[in-house]
Amino acid sequence: MVKMWGGRFKKKPHSLMEKFTSSLDHDKRLAEFDCLGSIAHAEMLAKCGIIPRKDSSMIVSGLKSILNDVRQDKLKYNKSAEDIHTAIQEALYKKIGRPAAMLHTARSRNDQVSLDTRMYCKKEIDVTVAAVKDLKKSMLAFAKKNINVIVPGFTHLQNAQPVLLAHQMLAYCQMLDRDMERLSDCKKRVDVMPLGSCAISGTALAIDRNLVAKKLGFSKVSSNSMDAVSDRDFIIEAIFALSLIAMHLSRISEDFIILNSPAFGLIEIEDEMCTGSSMMPQKKNPDVLELVRGKSGELYGALMSVLTVMKGLPLTYNRDMQEDKGPLFRAIDTVKSSLGIMELFFKDLRVDKKKIEVLLRDETLYATDMMEYLVKKGVALKEAHDSVGKVVRYCASNKLNISEVPLNKLRSFNSKFDKRVYDLLCAERSVNLKDSLGGTSLKQVRRQILNA
Ligand code: ARG
Repeated sequence: MVKMWGGRFKKKPHSLMEKFTSSLDHDKRLAEFDCLGSIAHAEMLAKCGIIPRKDSSMIVSGLKSILNDVRQDKLKYNKSAEDIHTAIQEALYKKIGRPAAMLHTARSRNDQVSLDTRMYCKKEIDVTVAAVKDLKKSMLAFAKKNINVIVPGFTHLQNAQPVLLAHQMLAYCQMLDRDMERLSDCKKRVDVMPLGSCAISGTALAIDRNLVAKKLGFSKVSSNSMDAVSDRDFIIEAIFALSLIAMHLSRISEDFIILNSPAFGLIEIEDEMCTGSSMMPQKKNPDVLELVRGKSGELYGALMSVLTVMKGLPLTYNRDMQEDKGPLFRAIDTVKSSLGIMELFFKDLRVDKKKIEVLLRDETLYATDMMEYLVKKGVALKEAHDSVGKVVRYCASNKLNISEVPLNKLRSFNSKFDKRVYDLLCAERSVNLKDSLGGTSLKQVRRQILNA
């Protein structure tokens, strides 16, 4: 094989060493960007008079045909190539012969690998943002379909206060909005063109880096060659943004695993989205949600991997950095597949209104409303809290619902209670009382949907 180095060596590389150091299995995925980057580079070299125009044209048309093969998954890689950069260089050599040897002028694989990875990340960030947007749409559709459904909201996984299910869905949408924002912000730092930093210090040849950036659609050119070839912050940041998405998806999954559990049974998952048990014939398990929850582990692992790879590396490029791609690719694949399946999940999700009705019969859900009712009548919050607390305790020890306690008994806990207090023991009423900005009243939730 044609090595990109070799002049200095007397002996041929050991086959085990070659196998150990090769990254082709991983970085094959960068092939498209490697070709595009090289095309821009070759055009720039000719424009700046560094290589002859006719050689540049041959390089460019050779690369275009390789790019075509890559896109159709037809390119035959030399399996023993060290990495994708070498493999494409070799494929070009095979296609056009001697002019191929000029392509690597004024660049190194150190700036090339950063370029390819940045181009890949830019594209995948856009794809991921679109996938988050699709999930958000599917959640919003579910929220709208169930706009009047009220469910018990939890704190500490204990009944807290009734909320609109749509309000809960919009809480998830907020998380997804931040996820999209984080990805877009991260993209600003990905969108920096490193080529021309060469191995470490730039080049003595009169290249035009801005031209390459323009051709490849980058908004900035890196301003320090040493930083450019050694920086992997953008990868860590991207994996971090993806990890947060995975964490959010995991929490959302957990919520629906709980709501789906027989004890709650608030939702019904479509058969298509469930699996059975090989032993227990009655089972219909929410495995999709469990896997989405579990896959967050892959993301945190990826983040830790790259952070650890980078920790303590001296400037500038070190081969350790080749270990960034596996985790990056896994992180992207995992998040995209989780986003896709969650989008599908919400499309066919149904709520069990009968079961919800039963759960809303727990009138302690309205204790806070009773307390605020007393506050509106001029009772100090602490006193109101105490009075309602005593009502709840009385109900618990006498196995009564609040509505079953006669008014004179209620008044023994606080004389400000009057008969209208019983009207508060109603989910709809409770929800619509929460009309503060961002609250769960139908009016507030409608506004949130509109903004979303
Ligand atoms: N495969 C390498 C990587 O992913 C490319 C850069 C290799 N550079 C070098 N000088 N050996 O990091």
